[in-house]
Amino acid sequence: MSHLFPTYARWDITPVKAKGSYLTAKDGKEYLDFTSGISVCNLGHAPDNVKTAVEEQLNQFWHTSNLFQIELQEEVAKQLADASGLDLVFFGNSGAEANEAAIKLARKSTGRTKVITFVDSFHGRTFATMAATGQDKIKIGFGPMLESFEYITMNDLDSLTAALDDNTAAIMFEVIQGEGGINEGNAEFLKKAEELAHQNGSLVIIDEIQTGIGRTGKPFAFQHIGLNPDIVSVAKGIASGFPLGAIIGKASLAEAFSAGSHGSTFGGNPVALAAAKETLNTIFDESFLADVTQKGEQLHSLLEEALKEQPIFKKLKGRGLMVGIELNEEAGPFLAKAREHNLLILTAGTHVIRLLPPLTATEAEIQTAVNVITNILTN
Ligand SMILES: Cc1ncc(COP(=O)(O)O)c(C=O)c1O
Repeated sequence: MSHLFPTYARWDITPVKAKGSYLTAKDGKEYLDFTSGISVCNLGHAPDNVKTAVEEQLNQFWHTSNLFQIELQEEVAKQLADASGLDLVFFGNSGAEANEAAIKLARKSTGRTKVITFVDSFHGRTFATMAATGQDKIKIGFGPMLESFEYITMNDLDSLTAALDDNTAAIMFEVIQGEGGINEGNAEFLKKAEELAHQNGSLVIIDEIQTGIGRTGKPFAFQHIGLNPDIVSVAKGIASGFPLGAIIGKASLAEAFSAGSHGSTFGGNPVALAAAKETLNTIFDESFLADVTQKGEQLHSLLEEALKEQPIFKKLKGRGLMVGIELNEEAGPFLAKAREHNLLILTAGTHVIRLLPPLTATEAEIQTAVNVITNILTN
C-alpha cells in the first residue's frame, strides 16, 4: 500500500530523469513536458547554469537562519524590485505562504480587514489563501473559513463598487486566472479596479504566482497593462523548482513588517536563492522575454490554424506561453490521450486544456505539441 495521503490524482508515470523539455519515466518512455512542473521549470528541467549555482552554494553553506545577513537575499530582492518597479521583498517557501504574507501585510498596514478577491480565483491551500480563493470546491469540509473575504465577478465593475467599503484592506487578483481556466481580466476593468481601490485607501495585491517570471513574455503579467500594484506575490518559476516564494511591496509598507512581525525559518534559503538568482538573471533579460513572446505567438497561431474549423474547439485563451484551449466538452479525458502520444499537458477549470511549456521550448517542440493536440482533439 501507499503510505501517502491520497491528496493528488496521480498519473501512472514514475519520473527517473528530467532534462530540458523532456521527462523520462521508469518504463523508458520519454515525454515532451508542456506542464513545466506546473509553471515552475520555466527554463526547462535542470538547467545547467542553475545546477552549477546550486552546487556552488552547497559547497559554501545551505542554511544558517534569518538572524544573519544573507547576501543572496539582498541580491535576489534587488532583481525582483528592479524587474517589478517595487521596493521591498519578503521571502517564504511557496505561493500560499507568499499570499499569506500579502494578506497579513495588507491588513496590518491599512488597519482594515476585508480582502476582495475574484470568483474562480486560486490563491492557495492555507486557511487565509483558501478563504481568498473564489472556488467552493477547494473549501469543502474545511470550514468555518477565515472571515472578511468577499468575491466579485471578474470584469464586472458594479460588483467591485458594491464590495469596496471603508473596511477594505485590499483587492487581490490574478491578471490571468491559472487554475480557474486561463481567464483574463480585461485591461480597462483592471485599471479601473486599481484606481477605485486606491481612491478608497485599499491596496492592490496581484498574485503573479503562475503568471509571473516571464511566463507571459514580461517579467510580470501586470506589466502588459501598466498596473501599479502595492504588493505582488511570486513563487513557482522563481527558482526553477527549488522551493521559494516572495512578496514584493512598496517601501511605504515597511513599518507594518517591522522586526518580529512576520517570519519563516526556511524562507529565503540560500540554495533556493542561488537557483533564483541564476533563473531571474536568465529570464529577466529583454531578448529572452522577446523570444517568449515570439514563441507564444507561434503557439497561438499554429493552434488557431489547426483547430479553428473543429467543432470541439471553442476558443484560445491566455498570453505568451500560458495558453488555454477552451473546448465544447470536458478537457480531462484528453490528458491521458496526450500521454499516449508522449505529450504532457494540463487542464484548467473543467473545459480548458492548459499548456505551460518551458519558456525555452524550441519551435520544433512547439510544432510537435500542436500536432499531438490536433490529433487527439480531431480523431
Ligand atoms: C495563482 C496561484 N496562486 C497561488 C498558488 C499556490 O501556490 P503553492 O502551491 O506554491 O502554495 C498557485 C498554485 O497553483 C497559483 O496558481
